[in-house]
Amino acid sequence: MEELTQTTAAFPRARPRRLRASAAVRAMVRETRLSPDQLVLPLFAVPGQGVQEPIAAMPGQFHLSPDRLADTAARVHAAGVPAVLLFGVPEEKDEAASGAHDPSGIAQRAIAAVKDRVPEMVVITDVCLCAYTDHGHCGLVVDGRVHNDLSLEVLARTAVSHADAGADVVAPSDMMDGRVGAIRAALDAEGHEDVAIMSYAAKYASAFYGPFREAAHSAPGFGDRRGYQMDPANAREALREVRLDIAEGADMVMVKPAAAYLDVITRVRAITDLPVAAYHVSGEYAAIAAAVERGWLDEREAALEVLTAIHRAGADILITYFAEPAARWLQEGAR
Ligand code: PBG
Repeated sequence: MEELTQTTAAFPRARPRRLRASAAVRAMVRETRLSPDQLVLPLFAVPGQGVQEPIAAMPGQFHLSPDRLADTAARVHAAGVPAVLLFGVPEEKDEAASGAHDPSGIAQRAIAAVKDRVPEMVVITDVCLCAYTDHGHCGLVVDGRVHNDLSLEVLARTAVSHADAGADVVAPSDMMDGRVGAIRAALDAEGHEDVAIMSYAAKYASAFYGPFREAAHSAPGFGDRRGYQMDPANAREALREVRLDIAEGADMVMVKPAAAYLDVITRVRAITDLPVAAYHVSGEYAAIAAAVERGWLDEREAALEVLTAIHRAGADILITYFAEPAARWLQEGAR
């Protein structure tokens, strides 16, 4: 029997351009659609009142005190963004990262302020120690090395403190082994069994976090993060990380960065039924924003194209600094 090797005729009978002939036909055959429901906006909380300081390397993004952060959350929620990802940027740092789980710490105050002002907003919190340690590493340092198991307890305490403050979802970004299991156990022990875990499962040691580290004052004081974040050359290892996090109780898994790791997103999508998130990170945002400032790229076209690509690759949830304008563009009927 002859194999069917093509499902359509060949040219000139086949003309793919027929399905590109009008906007209505293009819309009818479109395979991927973005929705504001998928968008998550990262926000940076700093101490104080009435503070709204621009972050130089991230045009359009700000350091916000809890009151202004709540204002921003209300505005973007009205624009159609259903979720925020909160980062605390504390004034004080120490060896033990004690500010990370302080009940009146900056992240905890920002969480409470958002929940108070916009109760419907889904509040996701970044759980990591790098902004709270004086050395800037994502875990506790013992004898010059990031100590995995000692860091787990502090991370779990931090996640519980976020849940106590009102977080709906906690997102560990530290890349310690076993942290998802440790956080799940601690949340459950404290009556937070309804708080979900979005794990930064496949998080790479990326140059594209540069602007964020300036924003979060979290650059490592010595060495780098390659002893815990993943090697950009590895994709199979990402699947192993994802499987481990799922086995430990992750409710959603994330790939980060996003645009340079579309193959990883597709492969993760193929091995799990869980929602897959992707983080279009600060450097990916800054590269587009800088070209837009120079008039070299059209912001709306470029941002929607890259977000569509990340969704097409397999991500359900898009964490992006473009969330607010993207929600507006989509509500205006783009794509
Ligand atoms: C904390 C953390 C980082 C980012 C999110 N959580 C920085 C890092 O790992 O150095 C990066 C986010 C971005 O670049 O937008 N560990």
